[in-house]
Amino acid sequence: MISPYAASELRPLFVRSDKRRKQLLEHAETLPSVTLTSAAAANAVMLGAGYFSPLGGYMHLADALSVAETMHTTDGLFWPVPVLNIVARVDGLASGDTVALRDPNVDGAPVLAVMELENIEEVSANQLFHMAQHIFGTTDMAHPGMAVFLDQGAYVLSGPIQVLNFSYYDQDFPDTFVTAYDLRDQIESRGWNKVVAFQTRNPMHLAHEELCRMALERLDADGLVIHMLLGKLKPGDIPADVRDACIRKMVDTYFPENTALVNGYGFDMLYAGPREAVLHAVFRQNMGASHLIVGRDHAGVGDYYGPFDAQSIFDQVPDGALEIEIFAADHTAWSKKLKKVVMMREVEDHTPDDYIFLSGTKVREMLSEGIAPPVEFSRPEVSKILMQHYQQSA
Ligand code: ADX
Repeated sequence: MISPYAASELRPLFVRSDKRRKQLLEHAETLPSVTLTSAAAANAVMLGAGYFSPLGGYMHLADALSVAETMHTTDGLFWPVPVLNIVARVDGLASGDTVALRDPNVDGAPVLAVMELENIEEVSANQLFHMAQHIFGTTDMAHPGMAVFLDQGAYVLSGPIQVLNFSYYDQDFPDTFVTAYDLRDQIESRGWNKVVAFQTRNPMHLAHEELCRMALERLDADGLVIHMLLGKLKPGDIPADVRDACIRKMVDTYFPENTALVNGYGFDMLYAGPREAVLHAVFRQNMGASHLIVGRDHAGVGDYYGPFDAQSIFDQVPDGALEIEIFAADHTAWSKKLKKVVMMREVEDHTPDDYIFLSGTKVREMLSEGIAPPVEFSRPEVSKILMQHYQQSA
């Protein structure tokens, strides 16, 4: 199986001994504490689960600036997005403290992790904006990721952490949330070596399903991992439980047994397009995938990124930094002429009218009205689940 990223062993920061975890949780109640932002909590979950291996904790300001500007830490590790813990208030905290990090996404804000607080650094609005510009590739405050990033506070807390639970993810998604180390074990026990990961934050329509099938076939891969985001999304995106049900139904109905695993990771969507695609590749390598599908407008939002920017950014990855490879896919759509889903640049003599395209808005409208999109667009079983969702939430 592929090695973890930049290390021979995966370094998950979750404390796996029950006894040690219990001790640390008890001790944490006596420590100064701080409630995290959702973004910092998501970083802790990713660090705990081994997805952000080999990082040992939250980055200090110099590392975060360097990662934002150059995609490298000050020590030269290739890393695409700063892993930060930014807070608004630091009263009662001093560098050198051991600090309890509380979870903003669970009732009662229980302790999620403990941190050796090495540095408390003030970050200026200019520095934050500078980082955000590099990460999101825009200065537009209307970008949903920008707004969240800039609204966290003015202090960077850095240092190593030990993670004590997986927030709401393993409670809310017991069959779907998975750590990178458990996923490596699952892949290993299936004897898979060449493994394709499919990142998604959407229910899968036929074009996505066929894209996965094309990747499996063309790479002659042993298996597919449909690895969905389970964290926060912008308003209007489909909630994770509904998406999970759609994807499971589709896989159970249309994929042969033992070809696809369906699971997910606990992270909030950044909508950072190209930079997020590289982060996706890093953590898919950590979970044991040898390939990541990167298609059209991967991790994008609105018109902020060119349709294939998330593929071309991989030209900036230094040779040898990543072992995982990209399956760079063209726009896929149903061809009325060929009566199947195709990659558009691979077919000749097609005009836009020869494809079935439906905008997200159009599909939402149809589903809300109880009208199933055509079967050339979406599997009827998937449409049914989505129609129920839209009608219930209307
Ligand atoms: S994402 O934000 O998680 O990337 P989404 O779930 O829509 O969003 O996409 C999952 C993956 O499928 C991404 O790699 C994306 O580029 C790809 N993709 C989605 N739709 C298409 C399409 N019609 N053609 C090609 N690739 C697509």
